[in-house]
Amino acid sequence: MSARQWCTDDFLVIGHRGAAGLEPENTLESFSAAYSAGVRAIELDVHWKMPELLVIHDATVDRTTNGTGSIDGLCLAQLRELDAGKGQRIPTLREVVGSLPANVALNIELKGPDTAVPVHELLVGHRNIDVLISSFNLAELERFRSLDPLMPVAPLFGRSYVAREAMVEAAIKLQACSINLSMELATPETIRFIRSHGYKVLVYTVNELAKARQLKSDGASGLFTDRPDIVSEPVLSHAGVA
Ligand code: G3P
Ligand code: MG
Repeated sequence: MSARQWCTDDFLVIGHRGAAGLEPENTLESFSAAYSAGVRAIELDVHWKMPELLVIHDATVDRTTNGTGSIDGLCLAQLRELDAGKGQRIPTLREVVGSLPANVALNIELKGPDTAVPVHELLVGHRNIDVLISSFNLAELERFRSLDPLMPVAPLFGRSYVAREAMVEAAIKLQACSINLSMELATPETIRFIRSHGYKVLVYTVNELAKARQLKSDGASGLFTDRPDIVSEPVLSHAGVA
């Protein structure tokens, strides 16, 4: 599989959980809203519920559906019956991949445990899709890398402090193309440091245009947004933004 959107120099706006600020997150409606807003890439989170990968952020269904309980504690049929918002179901990764427009890239975040192997297996049948695999769980990401030496991957770092050197070390070990950071960690110095080592920096979650413009001029390579209708590539290309 060749690297396309994920390893180019273009500034990239990625629909976070689809368009989580417009429709219920990680649902097919949310992904549709992101495509309608013109994104070139979407991000989603996956958990493994044998024999499917479910597109859901949390390990429990409480926050995002009308049910309660953990993904582990419910069976697949029960999980698929839940209302994930506006009558939407929790989609499978297979469904999202099946409805992905040809020109939209996909960032699969390995959120749950034991997701690397089934994600790899699913993608073997979809080599035409432009995919980035990311995770906070570096061991899971290493497992994926051991299965696929070429797929673009990105370690994720959250709100707690991590030394820049450790971020780059992780990227080297994973042969990553990008390091994905929370806004809190994405200082101009850290962005400069990572870029100087040859890695892209994708920043989450940026819902304000002013912040997006600032990150772009600080040298970020792209961002994740819940509001791709507001934070869009055409808008960011205007007004003399570097
Ligand atoms: O991949 C960027 C972002 O999705 C990471 O954080 O918690 O929104 O999955 P979270
Ligand atoms: Mg995510």
